[in-house]
Amino acid sequence: MEITLDINGDRQVLDLDPRTSLLDALRHHLGLTGSKKGCDHGQCGACTILVNGRRINSCLTLAAMHEDDEITTIEGIGRPGHLAPLQEGFVRHDGFQCGYCTPGQIMSATAMIEEAREGWPSYVSPSLEGDIELSDEEIAERMSGNLCRCAAYTGIVQAIREAAE
Ligand code: FES
Repeated sequence: MEITLDINGDRQVLDLDPRTSLLDALRHHLGLTGSKKGCDHGQCGACTILVNGRRINSCLTLAAMHEDDEITTIEGIGRPGHLAPLQEGFVRHDGFQCGYCTPGQIMSATAMIEEAREGWPSYVSPSLEGDIELSDEEIAERMSGNLCRCAAYTGIVQAIREAAE
């Protein structure tokens, strides 16, 4: 079936099996290999992208479900020589070792910082509404869907806290 997707500001028309996951559409049909496939079951966060500004695991959703959505991948955040501040923070604080999880970490953190600036929605916890200081513990909790097998968590948290300030 023909599917039109808005990815990083570009309209892309694809001929896909309707069962194609959004992650596979990005990686195998559009060559956007920044989003990684780790578990393919929604457990590792390596495939995290933004859909209408919210973070999702792209392995858990079908491309055909997102024709009206604005999709952002790591390729839309920064480029070599023109990194986003959050990406520069990951470099500065050694927020990675092998780098496999890094695109998902960056996308998840990008959305998480926006969520914090908006104030946590009431469905998270009424007690968390309003201004929130992103403590290291809160960052770790809000990033708990993104695993790092190299355990570079100290640098990841430092980079995110710096970007959120
Ligand atoms: Fe999607 Fe692991 S590959 S969560």
